[in-house]
Amino acid sequence: MAKSLDVAAVVGSLRRESFTRRFVAGLISLAPASLKIEIVPIAQLPHYNQDDESSPPEAWRNFRARIKRADGILFATPEYNRSVPGVLKNAIDVGSRPYGSSAWARKPAAVISTSPGAIGAFGANHHLRQSLVFLDMPALQQPEMYIGGADKLFDASGQWTQPGARDLAAKFLEAFEAWVSHNARPA
Ligand code: FNR
Repeated sequence: MAKSLDVAAVVGSLRRESFTRRFVAGLISLAPASLKIEIVPIAQLPHYNQDDESSPPEAWRNFRARIKRADGILFATPEYNRSVPGVLKNAIDVGSRPYGSSAWARKPAAVISTSPGAIGAFGANHHLRQSLVFLDMPALQQPEMYIGGADKLFDASGQWTQPGARDLAAKFLEAFEAWVSHNARPA
C-alpha cells in the first residue's frame, strides 16, 4: 500500500468553539485514509523576535520540525479586520526563519477561509496567499474555499448539516490530495 500523505493543518483561531477548527474537523471526518490531516497547534508559539534566533525557543524548534516533516500544508483561517489573525501570521513568521531554512519552502498548500458572514473571509484568504508567494509555496487554486455562514454548517455533534457544503469539502479534499501528491517535497 502506498504511504499516506502527511498534511499539517494550521488553524488561525484559538477560540474553543472556533468555526474554522470545526470546519477542519469536518474535513478530517471526510478525508480518505491516504490523506492524514493533523491540526498543528500554534497557540504556544512565542511572538517572533529575531533576537531569539541565537537560542530559539523550544516551541519554535518543534513547530519548524513538524512543518518540515509534512508533505503538505492546509491553512484554515478566519478573517480579522479583512486580514489573517495575528496568531496565524506569527506562526507563518516563526516557520519562515532562520533565513535560508524556511520550513514552508516548496510545500504544497491550500487556503480555506471561514466566516459567519457572507463574504467567506475572502480578504483574509487573499492576504494569506500573498505570503505564500514569498514563501514559495505552490497553492491550490480550485476549488476556491471562501466558506461563508460558517456558524451553520454543523450540528451540535459535529455532523455536516448542509449537503452543498459537504460536497464542496469532498471535492476540495480530492483536489488537495492530488495537489499534495504531485508537489510533495518532505524534508
Ligand atoms: C472579526 N470577525 C470578522 N469577520 C469577517 O467576516 N471579517 C472581518 O474582517 C472580521 N473581523 C474581525 C475582527 C476581530 C478582532 C474579531 C474577533 C472578529 C468575526 C469573525 O468572523 C468571527 O469572530 C469568527 O467566529 C472567527 O472565527 P472562529 O474563531 O469562529 O474560527
